[in-house]
Amino acid sequence: MFERIVFFAVVTKIVCESCNPISTINLTVYRTIDSVIENVSVSGTIELKEDAFHLLLANESIPEFCENFVRITNELSVLQIINCSVTNIEPGAFLIDPTLTLLKISSNLLTSVKKGVFNNVRVKEIDLSKNLLSTIEDEAFDNNTYLEVLKLNYNAIKAISPDWFQNSPNVYKLSIIYNELTQLPPEAFKNLAKHRPLKLRLSANRISEISLDSFKFSGNIDILRLNGNKLVALPEEMFLNRTIKVLEVNTNRLLCFPDAIYNSHVASLQFLENPHFNCTCLRKVKEFVDKNGVEVMYPSIICEDRVKDVNLVFNFNKTYEIPLLLPSTGG
Ligand SMILES: *[C@@H]1O[C@H](CO)[C@@H](O)[C@H](O)[C@H]1NC(C)=O
Ligand SMILES: *[C@@H]1O[C@H](CO)[C@@H](O)[C@H](O)[C@H]1NC(C)=O
Ligand SMILES: *[C@@H]1O[C@H](CO)[C@@H](O)[C@H](O)[C@H]1NC(C)=O
Ligand SMILES: *[C@@H]1O[C@H](CO)[C@@H](O)[C@H](O)[C@H]1NC(C)=O
Ligand SMILES: *[C@@H]1O[C@H](CO)[C@@H](O)[C@H](O)[C@H]1NC(C)=O
Ligand SMILES: *[C@@H]1O[C@H](CO)[C@@H](O)[C@H](O)[C@H]1NC(C)=O
Ligand SMILES: *[C@@H]1O[C@H](CO)[C@@H](O)[C@H](O)[C@H]1NC(C)=O
Ligand SMILES: *[C@@H]1O[C@H](CO)[C@@H](O)[C@H](O)[C@H]1NC(C)=O
Repeated sequence: MFERIVFFAVVTKIVCESCNPISTINLTVYRTIDSVIENVSVSGTIELKEDAFHLLLANESIPEFCENFVRITNELSVLQIINCSVTNIEPGAFLIDPTLTLLKISSNLLTSVKKGVFNNVRVKEIDLSKNLLSTIEDEAFDNNTYLEVLKLNYNAIKAISPDWFQNSPNVYKLSIIYNELTQLPPEAFKNLAKHRPLKLRLSANRISEISLDSFKFSGNIDILRLNGNKLVALPEEMFLNRTIKVLEVNTNRLLCFPDAIYNSHVASLQFLENPHFNCTCLRKVKEFVDKNGVEVMYPSIICEDRVKDVNLVFNFNKTYEIPLLLPSTGG
């Protein structure tokens, strides 16, 4: 059952002027999804001598990934580099033949993503969460037809570039939560997938402005999460000629939605904690939501209805009417 697997350390001399290769590294190898782990020590270059499911580098100190550092010719599905104090990855560091489902380099100290690192890696999902990323070179994720999902959560990214993902037409899921975005530029997602709906997670930033053209050249959207930002308004244009199925804008400063939202086939709408949402707009949302069976989360707001002499209370996914408080008559 627990077959013994032998991995060889291959020592290669690496000539690298500005990059300091590491000598000995401990790897953890999972032969199959649920196999026992193998601890392997390698020097110079990371290589697999046999097919494996998952290769994990964790809690080591590997500040620099120099050119040719990781050379995988066998089958491999998941490669993770977690908490290894990685500060720099040189172009050409990853020479990987198999198609990975996940390449995760998280809880490290990367500040930038250079071009030449990931362009030629066949991988469906790249996860660079929990680094110190502030610079993503425009070409960092170009020319990668395998790439579908990119996660950049918990970093210090200040801007999305519309030029990311040139000739990477299958990226449909982009996650940049807990970063320092302040706005969405025009055509922000123009290079993302056209043939399937997008999933965009942009919560927990400081976004105060969405350009009229931010979604120009983008198709339908399955999920758009913008919770925990500083939005005062959403542009009408983002809802035109487009389905946005799930929209979450909790904890912002919104006052109203543009009317176009009512034609965008929203099936789920969350806007909790937008404390100054306008009562006229709120009633319009209620009418739309009730009529179309939309899942909803309202901000907690009480709206006076002077005609009916009631307060209309919005609270989570419910609304109810209570009589306007009358002056006390009893003793
Ligand atoms: C690698 O593992 C060996 C044996 O388990 C251990 O003695 C050594 O400290 C480890 N090296 C690193 C760099 O963690
Ligand atoms: C591999 O290393 C881990 C962490 O150091 C340790 O918990 C585990 O017992 C080791 N497994 C084997 C098979 O040596
Ligand atoms: C890395 O270190 C953390 C904290 O000591 C520990 O919880 C985790 O299991 C370690 N990871 C591996 C793969 O050894
Ligand atoms: C990261 O690795 C170091 C050892 O290099 C360990 O002391 C620390 O607990 C690890 N941190 C986490 C969050 O795993
Ligand atoms: C992407 O492909 C184009 C055309 O082949 C090439 O000119 C460009 O250098 C490539 N970019 C990267 C970062 O590999
Ligand atoms: C939406 O589609 C209509 C009709 O096809 C077109 O006239 C209009 O310009 C489009 N609007 C946008 C913002 O693309
Ligand atoms: C709420 O919106 C309505 C219609 O858009 C507008 O007439 C009204 O002045 C707004 N109320 C407040 C308090 O901003
Ligand atoms: C409101 O949410 C609760 C739980 O979150 C759910 O059980 C209930 O069906 C929802 N009510 C409506 C009217 O959607």
